[in-house]
Amino acid sequence: MLKVDYLNVYYGESHVLHDVDMEISQGQIVCLLGRNGVGKTTLLKGIMGVLPARRGKVSFDNQEITPLLPNRRAKLGIGYVPQGREIFPYLSVHENLLVGLESRKDSLRTVPEEIFELFPVLKSMLGRKGGDLSGGQQQQLAIGRALAMGPKLLMLDEPTEGIQPSIILEIENVIQRIKERGNIAVLMVEQYLDFAWRIADYYYVMAKGSVVSHGSTKETDIEYVKEHITV
Ligand SMILES: Nc1ncnc2c1ncn2[C@@H]1O[C@H](COP(=O)(O)OP(=O)(O)OP(=O)(O)O)[C@@H](O)[C@H]1O
Ligand SMILES: [Mg+2]
Repeated sequence: MLKVDYLNVYYGESHVLHDVDMEISQGQIVCLLGRNGVGKTTLLKGIMGVLPARRGKVSFDNQEITPLLPNRRAKLGIGYVPQGREIFPYLSVHENLLVGLESRKDSLRTVPEEIFELFPVLKSMLGRKGGDLSGGQQQQLAIGRALAMGPKLLMLDEPTEGIQPSIILEIENVIQRIKERGNIAVLMVEQYLDFAWRIADYYYVMAKGSVVSHGSTKETDIEYVKEHITV
């Protein structure tokens, strides 16, 4: 459903992504690994269209989307939770979730009940300002907002970064449930390898702006990845 071919992305004259290839199938859970600064966030931004491709292409559901702006890609079904979450701190939890509905293809204007089934804490905090939530709750809100748009692909950039263990478990549980349903693929950048290995079907490792390794998590020893590919 997602196909990235020879993607090259620059910041000005600085060449950051070099000929990146990636493929994700429907419902697949994929983790993207690599040290700080190798280009993981840049790749997600390139897929979302926040950064333009200098060369190469991005296709989604067999349609080339390389020329499309981020809002058009969102409408096609790509949800994105940026690193650092970026919820609206002065909007209420409910208003934050309503913003997610703007990107839906249908005209649904109420938050789907299943978002509250996945994140019960959001239901009890609907009137609170986003900025008053804990870091973990803000992450849950950001994921809930992205799911409210009804994506086919959900991209999460370091969902466990700086979050307390109990909420990491809740987020893992939500990704498990998404996986069981099989209709939403997930691409997540993750430094926490044990977490990634428990839920991902497939992994990619990047180094210096390129993909250096990829494969099935079931068929790859986590210790090998820890020692040799370094995250
Ligand atoms: N706005 C920018 N302008 C110029 N260079 C940038 C910009 N953002 C990132 N870079 C550079 O691009 C490279 C890739 O950065 P990126 O944020 O994609 O890495 P990352 O793998 O997500 O790292 P981290 O694990 O720290 O989040 C780095 O060398 C970084 O310094
Ligand atoms: Mg990053």
